[in-house]
Amino acid sequence: MSIRKILCIGAGHVGGPTMAVIADMCPEINVVVVDINPDRLTQWNSGTLPVYEPGLDEVVSRCLGRNLFFEPARPEVIADADMVFVSVNTPTKEYGEGAGMAADLQYWEKSARFIKPHLKDGAIIVEKSTVPVRTAEAISRILHDNRQGRRFPVLSNPEFLAEGAAIRDLMEPDRVLIGCEETEAGRAAAEALAAVYRHWVPPERIVLSSVWSSELAKLTANAFLAQRISSINAISALCDATYADVTEISRAIGTDHRIGSHFLEAGVGFGGSCFRKDILNLSYICQQQGLPEVAAYWKSVVEMNDHQITRFTRNIIAHQFDTVAGKKLAVFGFAFKPGTNDTRDSPAIYVCKKLLEERAHLAITDPRALENAAESLRGLGGEIAIEPDPYRAAEGAHAIVLLTHWQEFRELDYQRIYERMERPASFFDGRNWIDAKLLYELGFNVYRVGRAPLVHY
Ligand code: NAD
Ligand code: UDX
Repeated sequence: MSIRKILCIGAGHVGGPTMAVIADMCPEINVVVVDINPDRLTQWNSGTLPVYEPGLDEVVSRCLGRNLFFEPARPEVIADADMVFVSVNTPTKEYGEGAGMAADLQYWEKSARFIKPHLKDGAIIVEKSTVPVRTAEAISRILHDNRQGRRFPVLSNPEFLAEGAAIRDLMEPDRVLIGCEETEAGRAAAEALAAVYRHWVPPERIVLSSVWSSELAKLTANAFLAQRISSINAISALCDATYADVTEISRAIGTDHRIGSHFLEAGVGFGGSCFRKDILNLSYICQQQGLPEVAAYWKSVVEMNDHQITRFTRNIIAHQFDTVAGKKLAVFGFAFKPGTNDTRDSPAIYVCKKLLEERAHLAITDPRALENAAESLRGLGGEIAIEPDPYRAAEGAHAIVLLTHWQEFRELDYQRIYERMERPASFFDGRNWIDAKLLYELGFNVYRVGRAPLVHY
């Protein structure tokens, strides 16, 4: 089957960029992206996209109105589609059975029920969202209507892109994973999807598996990545106690080709919309399958992350002579990582919350994420200033707390900043990012993660 018309449900961080790249790479395919949030659709159609990703503006502007459309869902658009990607959110469930652990699949199920009456015969459904193992099977059962005898192949095609590098990851993926049912219809559907990707992805990078393996591979990939970060953060705590240097350890072990050098940067902890929710979901699934030891093993990755955030925040308070009440602290960076305006589950939320409870006055600055930062802290109370200018954020502050390693923060004039701060002026570098020696020489006390502090007495 040759795909001419694609529909995507969910115009978010994954649906938007992924469909834009498909439209760009496959000019003969018409791509329509729908969403229940009309503001999102308006933003995609405006000059100011809802998602900040390097290179995304250019891709969208090449295709928008040509073969890429963001519009409300209409029955005719669904009926027209040869292939339907579902890329809706699958957050951690906040109610009932599995609250705080399981994935909330209500958006997925509502999407399936919404498209079901309009789908044309044989339309291929592609599971793009990250979902628990065997979700495709449940979706198949919802879609299949015995009375009419209609069947729709359901594929798993998890997305591995990382935010801030979405366009690069989509253009040059390490692999594209397609999980299909071991039936003739399943294999034909997988081939149709593979043909879409082959427009730009080398065939050897397109990997086929069973649907369940594909679903579980996605959760496993995130769990392994996050587990590396928690492991190095655990070592950073030991370094803080012994004055060994965690960056030297990362370098030393990263040169072992069996370990590899990526995801070994100690810091304030991981954030983002995926790691916490996917690991908790994995842990929940293990628990449900009667594997409590395995569930506890994976949950400990998240617990270590929480510990790291708490440890970092306690360290700030301890080095502010055990009180931050009434003190101005400048927070440099609120996005969960550089290159994105996304603040979902950012460590900055937890650090700021704790500092506000201790009655600190916060001035938060970030090159891209201030709007989302204000949203993430809404209703918390306390003294918070959202300040686009880092120099003004630091003016009169007792300390700078760096939480996102934006390149912009390396390029600031710290002499100028130091002169306008209270004394002693402290710098808490949650990402081991700034030239600590330089800052120390300017007069700062510099505290890092898993590295000896540089302090004037
Ligand atoms: P998102 O919240 O940015 O976008 C989801 C969109 O779906 C929202 O705009 C929402 O309004 C829309 N939506 C929800 N229900 C709908 C419905 N019934 N009909 C139409 N639209 C609906 O989420 P995201 O970050 O794009 O993540 C989507 C999925 O992809 C999740 O399962 C996530 O785990 C996975 N994922 C995310 C990333 C990432 O970096 N963000 C990476 C890989 C995988
Ligand atoms: C992650 C996965 O990398 C991606 O494959 C998946 O599709 C979605 O989840 P993302 O959350 O966008 O992507 O960003 P990632 O680069 O993985 O960083 C996640 C968090 O880990 C960030 O807060 C980052 O600062 C932190 N991190 C990363 C570290 O603390 N140390 C590291 O060495 C690497």
